[in-house]
Amino acid sequence: MNSDSHNASRAPARIVGTDASSLDEAARILLAGGLVAVPTETVYGVAADATNGAAVASIFTAKGRPSFNPLICHVASLAMAESLAHFSPLARRLAERFWPGPLTLVLPRRADCPVHDLATAGLPSIGLRIPQHIATLEIISRVGRPLAAPSANPSEQLSPTTAAHVASGLGARIDLIVDGGAAIAGVESTIIAPGETRAVMLRPGAIARADVELLTGPLRSPEASEGILAPGMMKRHYAPRARLRMDASQAESGEAFLAFGAPPPGVLPSLNLSIRGDLAEAASNLFAMLRALDESHAMIAVQTIPDAGLGEAINDRLRRGTLLSRESGV
Ligand code: TXA
Ligand code: MG
Repeated sequence: MNSDSHNASRAPARIVGTDASSLDEAARILLAGGLVAVPTETVYGVAADATNGAAVASIFTAKGRPSFNPLICHVASLAMAESLAHFSPLARRLAERFWPGPLTLVLPRRADCPVHDLATAGLPSIGLRIPQHIATLEIISRVGRPLAAPSANPSEQLSPTTAAHVASGLGARIDLIVDGGAAIAGVESTIIAPGETRAVMLRPGAIARADVELLTGPLRSPEASEGILAPGMMKRHYAPRARLRMDASQAESGEAFLAFGAPPPGVLPSLNLSIRGDLAEAASNLFAMLRALDESHAMIAVQTIPDAGLGEAINDRLRRGTLLSRESGV
């Protein structure tokens, strides 16, 4: 199913709903090595059977991702997760508190873990999460195997929060799109490596640092840890075509202005991430609003967003979107 399936000239992937026969079809395609875009609470993922090396390789081809960064493997139960990785007591507490939900745990792979090396980039660890979307949990259960799934967008571009976004970016390169509605959280999962002593935050995301720290104590940053890296995290990523300017207090000529909360005096915002200054609402609007402004503007100014709570993940995505080097994305 895959060898010829990423030719841009083929028919666009069908968009189906979340009825039982569509979920059956999605599972059949995945078991045959195909690629299916699936909804999650964070962003849409482009999924493949994580145990099938050719299927996992075709994710990289479809995204145009130049290097093989490790992918998050999505499972439907803690039991399935424990068959793939070793859980310390802290890891289990994190899983029990936040799963299903937007937390990815990077844990030591079990020796008998059937996930293909390409999905973990040959690392001795594996990134796991149980997504909080009933349709995708049903698909994983039908497949009976973990699904490797990065965000369903061409490499470096904005992550998709609707089925229509997926169709416009990857529609011609994948087999099916399951439309489960707009993603609720709107930014990717928070990635934590619980570690032996102190936990490390590898990527800020849809669960705020402070909520994780209630269980882990103060989180270390990857730079401060010995050799635990989140490959692909330092690169340009989540980028619109337009030039992004952060911490803007006014719009320069030709710039779209993306506000957060009350706009600066005299500025008429093009769009507002959250008029009432709510960070969760801003996160869920972020990618869709950048996408909309990208259609009409070459420059987008974004009002200051506080770095607290979900603001950490929002500012992280905006900062990556401002980098200019075209290196590998995630
Ligand atoms: O919300 C999300 O997490 C979305 C949805 C689709 O679930 N998925 C997502 O996946 O963002 P992806 O593949 O784009 O994120 C992969 C990132 C890698 O760049 C790396 O930072 C980290 O997850 N990662 C995965 N496995 C890892 C490992 N074994 N060691 C270190 N980092 C890992
Ligand atoms: Mg991504």
